[in-house]
Amino acid sequence: MDKKVRALFEPFTINNLELKNRLFMPAMGIATVDENGAYTDEAIAFYVTRATGGVGLIITGANGVKSLDEKKIVCTDPAPWFNPDAYIRAGLEMTEEIHDYGCKIFVQLAAGFDKLTKETLTEQIKHCQVMTTAEVRLLVESFAYSAKIVKAAGYDGVEIQSGELLDGFTLALFNQRNDCYGGDLKNRFRIVTEIIAAIKEACGSDFPVILGLAMKSYLKVEGQQALPGEEFEEQGRDLEEALAAAVMLEAAGCDGFDVVAGIDTPEKASYWKYPPVYFDKGVYLKLSEALKKVVTVPVLAAGKMADPDLAAEALEKSLLDAVGLGRPLLADPELPQKLKNDQRKDIRPCLGCNDGCLAQQIAGLEASCTVNPACNRELRYRIEAAKTPKKVVVVGAGPAGMEAARVSAVRGHQVILFEKSYGLGGKLKYSSQRILKTADPQLIHWYETQLQSLKVEIRLDEPATPEKIAAINPEILFIAQGSEARMLTFPGMDSEKVTNAIDVLTDKTFVGPRCPAIGGGLAGCEAALHLAMHRHKMIIVDSAPDILAAGIPMAPANKQMLRDLLVFYRSEIITCAQLKAVTEEGAVIEKNGQERLLPAHHVMIAVGFEPTNSLYEALKNDYSQVYNIGDSQAIKNIRAAIWAANEVARLI
Ligand SMILES: Cc1cc2nc3c(=O)[nH]c(=O)nc-3n(C[C@H](O)[C@H](O)[C@H](O)COP(=O)(O)O)c2cc1C
Ligand code: SF4
Repeated sequence: MDKKVRALFEPFTINNLELKNRLFMPAMGIATVDENGAYTDEAIAFYVTRATGGVGLIITGANGVKSLDEKKIVCTDPAPWFNPDAYIRAGLEMTEEIHDYGCKIFVQLAAGFDKLTKETLTEQIKHCQVMTTAEVRLLVESFAYSAKIVKAAGYDGVEIQSGELLDGFTLALFNQRNDCYGGDLKNRFRIVTEIIAAIKEACGSDFPVILGLAMKSYLKVEGQQALPGEEFEEQGRDLEEALAAAVMLEAAGCDGFDVVAGIDTPEKASYWKYPPVYFDKGVYLKLSEALKKVVTVPVLAAGKMADPDLAAEALEKSLLDAVGLGRPLLADPELPQKLKNDQRKDIRPCLGCNDGCLAQQIAGLEASCTVNPACNRELRYRIEAAKTPKKVVVVGAGPAGMEAARVSAVRGHQVILFEKSYGLGGKLKYSSQRILKTADPQLIHWYETQLQSLKVEIRLDEPATPEKIAAINPEILFIAQGSEARMLTFPGMDSEKVTNAIDVLTDKTFVGPRCPAIGGGLAGCEAALHLAMHRHKMIIVDSAPDILAAGIPMAPANKQMLRDLLVFYRSEIITCAQLKAVTEEGAVIEKNGQERLLPAHHVMIAVGFEPTNSLYEALKNDYSQVYNIGDSQAIKNIRAAIWAANEVARLI
C-alpha cells in the first residue's frame, strides 16, 4: 500500500467499538424499504456492496423514530418502531453479512422524520413550539425505543441526526419555548442530552451513540445561504455555539461527532448539506479542525473528501479522526479496496452533480448515481459476460459512447471506438477545462484507463464514415455522435462579436470584458460564471421567466449554489427577454416591448444544443443492431447519457 495513505487504514475506536480503518460512509437515505419500514433485499445488497468494498463503518440513511402521521398504516421510510419484527429480521440479515467483511454499521435516527414537504418541515419546526413538556419526553423515549430495536437487529451503534425537528429545539432562531427545553444553550440542547442518556439507559453505556452535528448554519438574513468564503452575519448556529454544545454533549455521554453544516430545507436546496461540484474539496475540514481542539471523542467528517492525499493529510494534521466518503462510495463502492491495492487510477470519481442520487430521490424515482448506474440496484444491474463475443463499433467518445464501449468490452465484446476530435470526453472535456469542474477530467481519465485496460481500440482524430464502418462490418453499432450548439437567427448573427459557450470555455474566443450570455441554461450559466469569476461583467439574458429552468431539472442544491455564485460575482440576470440583434455596439434585447442595448465586446449565444444524428439516419437500416444513444438521440444530460448507454450495452 502507498505509504501516503497508510494512516487511512489504521484502526480506531468509538466508545469500545473497534473499527478496522478510518473510512466511513455517512448517512445517505437512498436505500429502499418495504411497507413495514424494513430494509429490502435491494437495500441490503446496496449496503453489503459498500462493506465488500472495504469501508470500515457505514451509517445508514435517516430512520424515523416516530411519525408525524400517527394513523399511518404503511411506512415508506426506514423506521425501526413501525414493525419491529420485520425491521429486526431484515436488519439481522444485513448486519450479519456486513460484519462478515469486518465492517461495522450504525443506524441514523432522526426525530419526526417523514417524507418532508414544505408544510411538514415548517410544521416540524413549529411543532417544537407547541409540543407539551410531556410530548418532548415521549419523543426522547421514542429515540430510546428505536435504538433498542436497532441494537436487537445487530447494528453496532446509532447516530442521532440533529437536524429537522431537533434543529427546531437547538437553534435559538426557531426555539421560543419557555420551559426547560427553551432559552439558553443548555436548555435548547437539553433534548439531545436526554436522548443520549435515554439511549444509553436502554442499550447500555457501551453502545456507541454519536451525533450528526451541523457546526455552522451558514444562514444569512431572509433564509439565504452564505457561500464559502462569503462575509455575512450568521443567523443560525455559529461555530462558537456548536463548540460549546459539543463540549456539553461529550460530557453527557456522546461518543463521537459527525461534522456537517447548513440547515436542510424541504426542497433539499442546502448546498452545505449536499455540497455540489462548485465546492472545493474538504468542505467541513475547518469545522472539524475546530471541533477536534475541544473534544476528546472521535470527530468524523465527510464533505468531498475523496482525494486520498487530502484525506490522509487531514488525518495526519489531526483535523479529524475518520474520513467520510458519501457520494464517492455511491460512485465507486470499491474505493477503499482500490486505494489499499494502489489502484487509484481505477477509482471512479463522484462528479458532485447530485443528479443521479439526490435529484432522483427528490423526484420520487430510484436514487442511484450518474456515473455508476448499478448503485442501489446491485441485484439487477450486474454486467454479465456475453454468450457470444461480437464485433462492436462505437461512434463518438462522449459519456454515452465511452460507457457503451466500456460495458461492451467488460462483457467480452471486441470494441472499436471512433472519435473525431483529439481526445475522449465529448462535451465533458470542454467543461472539464474549467476550474469549477475538477471531477470531470477525472471521469475522462477513469474511462481512458478502463478502456485501455479492456483493450478497446480507440481511434482518436478519426471521424467514422459509413465506408470505414462497413469495412469493419460490426455486429453491433452504437452511434453516440453528440450534439452541436444551437444557433439563433438574428441581424448581426455573422458578426465577429458572436460566439458560443464552448468556444468561450475552450478559449477559442478570448472574450472582452463585456460579454452578455444569451441563454440561461446550465451551459450558459456555467460559462457566464467562469467569465464572471475572471472579472468579466456578466449579464445573462433568458427568454423564460427564470434561468436554469429548461431541460432536465437540476438538483436543487446545485441550482441554488450556481445561482448564488452568479449573484455573488455580480452578474445581472434579465428574464423574459429576447435577443433582437447584435450590432457594432453590442446586443440589442427586447423586454416588455422595450428595446435595450447591452454594450458588448462579444455576445455569447448559449441557447442549448441540437442532436447530431446524420450518421444514425444514414445507417439505421444497414445493420441489424444499431443504437442511437446520448445527445444524438435526444438532448438530456450526462446522467441520462451514461444510464441509457449502460442499459442498452448491458442487455443486448
Ligand atoms: C442522496 C443523499 C442523501 C443523503 N441523506 C442523508 C441523510 O439521510 N441523513 C444525513 O444526515 N445526511 C444525508 N446526506 C448528507 C451526507 O451524509 C453527506 O454529509 C454529504 O453527502 C456530504 O458528503 P460527501 O461529499 O462525502 O457525499 C445525504 C446526501 C446525499 C447526497
Ligand atoms: S449522482 Fe453525481 S453526486 Fe451523486 S454520487 Fe453520483 S456522481 Fe456523485
